[in-house]
Amino acid sequence: MPRLTIDGREIEAAAGRTVMEAATDAGIFIPYFCWHPKLSVPGNCRICVVGVEDKGGEWVEIACNMPVTEGMVVYTNSEKVRARRKATMQFITLNHPVDCGICDKAGECTLQDYHYEYNGERSISVDAKAHATKHYSLSPRIVLDNERCIQCTRCVRFTREISKSNGLGMQNRADHSLVRAVEDGSFANDPYSDNVIDICPVGALLSRSFLHKARVWYLKPTASVCPGCSRGCTVNLWHRRPEWRLRAPGMRAQNETIDRVTPLENPAVNGPWICNKGRDIAKVLGRARAETAMLKGRPAELQGAIAQARSLIAAARKPVAVVSSWASNEELAAFKAALGARFSVLVKADHEPEPGEVVQDDILIRADKNPNTAGARALFGEAPLALPPDADLVLVWGEGLDFGLIPAGAKIVYLNAWLQPENGHADVFFPTSIQTERDGHYTNFAGVTSAFTQCFPRPAGVADAQALFAALAGQAGGGE
Ligand code: SF4
Ligand code: SF4
Ligand code: FES
Repeated sequence: MPRLTIDGREIEAAAGRTVMEAATDAGIFIPYFCWHPKLSVPGNCRICVVGVEDKGGEWVEIACNMPVTEGMVVYTNSEKVRARRKATMQFITLNHPVDCGICDKAGECTLQDYHYEYNGERSISVDAKAHATKHYSLSPRIVLDNERCIQCTRCVRFTREISKSNGLGMQNRADHSLVRAVEDGSFANDPYSDNVIDICPVGALLSRSFLHKARVWYLKPTASVCPGCSRGCTVNLWHRRPEWRLRAPGMRAQNETIDRVTPLENPAVNGPWICNKGRDIAKVLGRARAETAMLKGRPAELQGAIAQARSLIAAARKPVAVVSSWASNEELAAFKAALGARFSVLVKADHEPEPGEVVQDDILIRADKNPNTAGARALFGEAPLALPPDADLVLVWGEGLDFGLIPAGAKIVYLNAWLQPENGHADVFFPTSIQTERDGHYTNFAGVTSAFTQCFPRPAGVADAQALFAALAGQAGGGE
């Protein structure tokens, strides 16, 4: 393995690694725009220049495309390097609109960061800036500001190398260059298209659903798991920071809303990517909630509902439970410990593929649209979902069961988080929490278990499923 020296530190790197990779592996920072660890190397932005010393002195070269060699001496922050980066920044910002005040990327923009690090001065250009389209509709999901684009081609390479839609290309040359979607609609139909928003180093690619919605410094990311399919991608759920809570009437609901979803890199599950469905998961989690227990459709106190459910469970001769594949491992284990011996247990799919959605591919998307089928099946087996005709009590947990399959005359105890017509058809109904209101774990199709973390408090009147199962089994503690 070649040994080289970077900023006076001797390091070893595998043959074939670039200086950028070797430095990054060693925790030494070199700035970059066009380089991305999962994409090919175009070497077009030139911000990653480093100094390389040889007999003739120090010369500068880009780090992202330079292989390491034995005895190489590299400087990442010398005067010569900083001067070259300053010139590069002046060039890159020559036609940039510098409209950071209205740009969604402000606060996360590497162009801003590097400007302050390597330039920090007013433009020296006396020429008018070249103008381009400011609000170009790249797809139904993404708006493009061509004036902010620095032509790094990360977005184009993503569609060629990762999502394979080949949906984007570059038109024209020099300061007439424009990112454009190919005309066959392949970018609009690319189920991974929104990853280009994250990897765009500037604010050129903008999510329509997040456009001008929030300043990122008012938001906080909470690590979570996408429940959209059995891949269980690791994600960040972005929501209002408690210290920046909105207090104006009519705005308070926004304090407990997911404003955006982004990937949280996890090499064991999803790498640095997620699909567009994962980005939209806030719509699923933000549906109208059930917040009141009911007895035969009439609102009831939670303790009264627990007492009624307990007497139905005590009286049943053949009780069957249909458990949720959206429940956490902790909730499923609590059910098994409290009621598993009393019920025959079947596992159901809470969600099926929606019309028009990609059912499965060889990138991330899985046909099972539930995050914890593996966790539920590990505890309750693989039996097909067939309710015995002589079941006299059916406990249904979560969405997705056709109530028409429940044997006529069987009593129904129903646990669900959402406001749905079936709630009123149950003998006893309990509103339950959703994953943003508790901590927990899901196990994905490949057996990888991932954690999700609470974002918001559980609404008043909504039961914690773990405590509820203990209460239904007559154990200490209530259902709240
Ligand atoms: S839109 Fe963004 S990612 Fe695409 S080429 Fe321009 S700067 Fe790069
Ligand atoms: S692949 Fe599945 S788990 Fe990953 S983001 Fe998409 S829907 Fe969510
Ligand atoms: S990061 Fe090396 S040339 Fe762009």
